[in-house]
Amino acid sequence: MYLILTNLDDVSICNIALTFANAGCDVILHYNERRDGALSTYGEINRRYRRYKRDVGSSSSSSSSSSSRTTSSPGMCLGVVCADFRDSRSVDAMFDAVVEGISRGKEGFRDAHPRRRLDVLVNNAGIVTKLAMEDDDDETLASYHETMAVNLHAPLRLMRRAHRHMKGSGGGGGGGGGGGVIINNTSVHGTRSVEYMTSYAASKAALESLTRGLAIEYAPDGVRVNAIAPGVVPVERTASMFSDRNVVDMWTPRIPLGRLGTVEDVAHATLLLATNEWMTGTVLTLDGGMMARANMPIRPRPAIPHPTPPPSQPRSKVPAGGGESGGYDDRLDSCRPEKGSSLRDVLFEVPSAT
Ligand SMILES: NC(=O)c1ccc[n+]([C@@H]2O[C@H](COP(=O)([O-])OP(=O)(O)OC[C@H]3O[C@@H](n4cnc5c(N)ncnc54)[C@H](OP(=O)(O)O)[C@@H]3O)[C@@H](O)[C@H]2O)c1
Repeated sequence: MYLILTNLDDVSICNIALTFANAGCDVILHYNERRDGALSTYGEINRRYRRYKRDVGSSSSSSSSSSSRTTSSPGMCLGVVCADFRDSRSVDAMFDAVVEGISRGKEGFRDAHPRRRLDVLVNNAGIVTKLAMEDDDDETLASYHETMAVNLHAPLRLMRRAHRHMKGSGGGGGGGGGGGVIINNTSVHGTRSVEYMTSYAASKAALESLTRGLAIEYAPDGVRVNAIAPGVVPVERTASMFSDRNVVDMWTPRIPLGRLGTVEDVAHATLLLATNEWMTGTVLTLDGGMMARANMPIRPRPAIPHPTPPPSQPRSKVPAGGGESGGYDDRLDSCRPEKGSSLRDVLFEVPSAT
């Protein structure tokens, strides 16, 4: 059984929290401003859990015995926590509240939680900042620092607290006594940047670097650290923009798989990184192939090539080092069997010394 801490995107009910809950994890949700979204996901997860217990288990054992939890049972949502990550005290207070909430259990669900520990931390909160860094003013600098606080410093703070908690508690995803897994949500901007997203890209690049560094440091304690680096995924924040077909059409030619991502794509990749116990220090790009492609104009499909006709002169007259164009291709052509010659002849030919 896992417990995860994540924030959420309430545009779809099939988000990270629901995917983990469906996989049997008990979850705690973080929010900053969208309390309604957090509460609606909280309600949905627990509705599914109760429906499962009603359908599969007997009503008397559904809430009274820890042994009633089966491996296929969905998880519950234990609670929601609010914190503004711009303030480090708020981050610490949130973590303390989560650990306290886990150890206390939730009224009515108390007996269903034999393990009062955090197994998984998903650092998903982040702000997408667009800034012209060349603007030499205090506001730009303040926005840069705010981006770093939310996207980098808060995740680092949470990772340090989670590591301390995970290594000190039994079980978990790694070897040894303690263990757990941390997954950071970075971005394709962690490795490439675009105009006016410099501060966002810097925060994500640093988070990727922390992912690798802490994966190494925490490995002896059985605490794994991974990251997902998504490409373009429409969410509530960008829903109005991507409802415009022209905007979608502008993006899709640059994505080899020909479509934008979904929150389900992200959720499933996050679950993979949490459950594969040999994955640590992995930054998993998830972008439909966008980053595999160089930033070049889209090329038209070439015509099917016509085979080069065999050279008219005898092969022994081809100068060493290639023909007029001096290319490797010329030499290759000279090795092509002429019509009627057998493959054996070509393979065993010894060029004349002249
Ligand atoms: N969507 C994409 O295309 C895409 C691509 C690559 C990476 N990502 C990453 O995915 C993550 C989620 O982003 P999203 O696209 O889903 O955008 P989003 O819906 O705007 O999510 C941003 C999340 O961060 C939280 N947040 C914002 N400011 C905060 C603060 N001061 N303190 C604490 N939490 C704060 C928000 O919580 P509240 O809503 O409760 O305020 C919200 O849940 C981010 O880390 C983003 O960088 C997104």
